[in-house]
Amino acid sequence: MKFVFGNWKMNMSRSEIEHFEAEVAAAPYVPKVLAGIAVPSVYYGYCLGIKRKLSVGLQDVSEFEPGAHTGEISAQMAHDVLADFCLVGHSERRQFQHETNTIISHKIIRLQAAGVLPVLCVGETLEEFEAGRTREVLLSQLNECLAGFDTQKGLIIAYEPVWAIGTGKAADLAKIEEICGYVATIANEITTREIPVLYGGSVNAANAPAIARLSTVDGVLVGGASLDAREFLEIKKAFC
Ligand code: PGA
Repeated sequence: MKFVFGNWKMNMSRSEIEHFEAEVAAAPYVPKVLAGIAVPSVYYGYCLGIKRKLSVGLQDVSEFEPGAHTGEISAQMAHDVLADFCLVGHSERRQFQHETNTIISHKIIRLQAAGVLPVLCVGETLEEFEAGRTREVLLSQLNECLAGFDTQKGLIIAYEPVWAIGTGKAADLAKIEEICGYVATIANEITTREIPVLYGGSVNAANAPAIARLSTVDGVLVGGASLDAREFLEIKKAFC
């Protein structure tokens, strides 16, 4: 099974969602690819038409149990609206909302307990990359984020080098293959399960076919290019 997930981030409007839905309405069903979009939670109810064709998930969830946490969305709520998956630990949340690996591990625990598939994002910054610290950073991110992992439940990991996100410069293919393989090995050691590993960072319709051919890559997480339904479907096609 291959996975093609989109992440709309803080983009799209109701009318753009309607347009996106109309574009995906005719998309053929492909049994070997699970494709989905992580939508802004406030629009989840407006994405039910898209859900006939694609999985629809959320971009974040609270680390807390339901209760007095104004503005937060619990894992139980995500499950209640039938969210198919939820991103956790995206680098933009690590950077702008100061999410730590420990907070992210709590979110994974909550999602797994609620029965929502977590898609854990990991990746090194440019500074860490240039210092040759990629593996070391990923090792601690994986160890700490998966501290409470429930081996009976599922998980997907997206390796997203921070310096490749939104820059138009994807990592080179050899690097993607090497590091996704490394992430899979470490994740397997920690969880004793085979965990699918996706690549993310400036994936588009042009570079997706070459990325899809890499043996260690189980799919992609797509930001900017997922806002355009046609381009997103092209990327999905590359993984068929
Ligand atoms: P990008 O974003 O495809 O726009 O680089 C990827 C992501 O943030 O998941």
